[in-house]
Amino acid sequence: MLKSIKVGMIGAGGWGENVLCAYQQNPYTEVAAIADLNAARAEEMAKKYKVPKVYSDYKEMIAKEKLDMASVATPDFLHREAVCYCFEAGLHVFLEKPVATTMEDCEAIAAAAKKSGKKFMTDYFMRFIPQFRDVKAAMERGELGEVVQGYARIDDAISVPEKMLRWSKDSSPVFFVMIHNIDAVRWIVGCEAVEVYAKQQKKKLVSMDIDTPDSVQALVTFENGATVLFDSNWILPRTFDGLNDQFVRIVGTKGAAYINLTNQGLQIYKPKFDGDFEHANRSTVYTNTMFHNHVTGCVERSVAHFADCILNDREPAITIKDGVEPTRIACAIQESLEKGIPIKL
Ligand SMILES: NC(=O)c1ccc[n+]([C@@H]2O[C@H](COP(=O)([O-])OP(=O)(O)OC[C@H]3O[C@@H](n4cnc5c(N)ncnc54)[C@H](O)[C@@H]3O)[C@@H](O)[C@H]2O)c1
Repeated sequence: MLKSIKVGMIGAGGWGENVLCAYQQNPYTEVAAIADLNAARAEEMAKKYKVPKVYSDYKEMIAKEKLDMASVATPDFLHREAVCYCFEAGLHVFLEKPVATTMEDCEAIAAAAKKSGKKFMTDYFMRFIPQFRDVKAAMERGELGEVVQGYARIDDAISVPEKMLRWSKDSSPVFFVMIHNIDAVRWIVGCEAVEVYAKQQKKKLVSMDIDTPDSVQALVTFENGATVLFDSNWILPRTFDGLNDQFVRIVGTKGAAYINLTNQGLQIYKPKFDGDFEHANRSTVYTNTMFHNHVTGCVERSVAHFADCILNDREPAITIKDGVEPTRIACAIQESLEKGIPIKL
């Protein structure tokens, strides 16, 4: 039974590496091959994580390897083609967030997943962070009552759109960062959004020739009347001592919950900045951290959950609908930004 799930990685860039590492350390999964358009990157990752095969074309990888599942970590706007192809080839699919950057792509992915009958999960990994799980549990026990109001901030440092992603102009703070809070808050509130109204600022990144918003604030109204302000930018200055800033407040009729993940309880100030992103504190304790030579954190938990669903034929905790609805909210935010008016869902 051990190492019984053969994984094909499609895209092994910055984020793909974290997921790849989690598969290699999971007792039930092994990455049989990597497909990445960037051959040098694929080779580098294969060598580092002892993956036997490398391809530049994922279709060739799927044809030649006996895979059980694909893990798709290509840029946000490129998910559809690869994911739909994998479902047609009869593979289970683990997909990085967001499902897509248009509802057309998102619905095509959801339809392909349903038609295939294979397991599908979007990697909304906030659900595997203990603080979010505890707030959801408090909601389920009725301790917060009904959600009335919320505030959900998640920001990235400017190095993310400037240096980390070559494709940031084809995404936005909504699809790349805010989507995490959209998913987590929708999950906690426990009902669907009915209206969004959003505003953006475009100053800093456009001046650097990166045509994407610096910041977006979106007021989302849910079916139960709760209003939540989603607040994201990806221009935090280089001097900010982390890659992300995250704070969520949920106020209910009976109680309130505060989640502060900005420093993840850890600040390390090194004698000098190192690495590409020039940050003293990468704030990855809950995300990915090594413990006794084993990667732990929400990335590892998310991958382990999906492997368990395949092995034991369980429905992933993050369903197809859970993948689609945050994308629907993100697309409505985009429409509100373009039209300058509130959008009904
Ligand atoms: N869960 C998280 O917190 C988190 C964090 C960062 C990124 N992500 C998501 O992961 C995905 C990848 O982001 P990233 O930061 O790794 O981007 P990246 O640009 O570092 O890596 C993307 C990789 O995909 C490859 N690629 C592109 N098209 C391909 C194709 N058709 N076939 C094979 N390979 C292809 C590129 O060559 C590149 O190596 C995105 O959807 C992003 O939103 C999630």
